[in-house]
Amino acid sequence: MNIENWNAGLSRRRSLQLAAFSSAMWSVPGVFAEQLATPSTTEGPFYPDQLPVDTDNDLLILNDSLTPAVGQVTWLSGIVRTLSGQPVRNAFVEIWQVDNRGSYLHKGGRTDRGIDAGFQGYGRFLTDSSGKYTFRTIRPVRYQAGNTVRAPHIHVAVSQNGRRLLTTQVLIADDPDNDADGVLKAIRDPRLQELIVVPFRPLPGSRLGELTAQFDITLGMTPADADADVRGGISPPARRR
Ligand SMILES: [Fe+2]
Repeated sequence: MNIENWNAGLSRRRSLQLAAFSSAMWSVPGVFAEQLATPSTTEGPFYPDQLPVDTDNDLLILNDSLTPAVGQVTWLSGIVRTLSGQPVRNAFVEIWQVDNRGSYLHKGGRTDRGIDAGFQGYGRFLTDSSGKYTFRTIRPVRYQAGNTVRAPHIHVAVSQNGRRLLTTQVLIADDPDNDADGVLKAIRDPRLQELIVVPFRPLPGSRLGELTAQFDITLGMTPADADADVRGGISPPARRR
């Protein structure tokens, strides 16, 4: 091979390598390719039947009460994104969950252990310009409804422009109840299951044993696609418990 042919061969190899590199980039999820949408789950029967008087993103403190909720303090946060990876600002994120005794803010969703009157049970938050939301809550506990045991989970709903875009739940990675959980099993695709099961890790430096959990949400729907009206966005009546 003379030097001219050798150079031509080299540049062909280089372009092939570059082509292989760029096609690899396109196939890496989350780099350029579209994300998988966070799967929806049932809303369940225990969306609050009466919203609490305080609906902010700190579920530990109800108004200016001096008695905080009982439970393992958990910082739940994440980014709301579109399928193409763009952050969604002003997304209306709601969460609701059981207190440390396994009871919801719902007359039909209380265990015989009663309720923790210091726990807010529900919160809402508008994402900021980077699509981020944050809640301070407690680590949910398992509960039994009828014959069904539910693995610990937090219900999450996302709305925009008065339309509900996603109703889902976030579960705790490695929780022993996950394998038998009916809501998780109803999502057949294991890749989608993984999107709603996240680690609840010790918060670095916390002396109180606080946890931190990151639950990023990818919306598969836009307000134009949605036909369900938002709940929870209206002025709440005072809570009776
Ligand atoms: Fe639930």
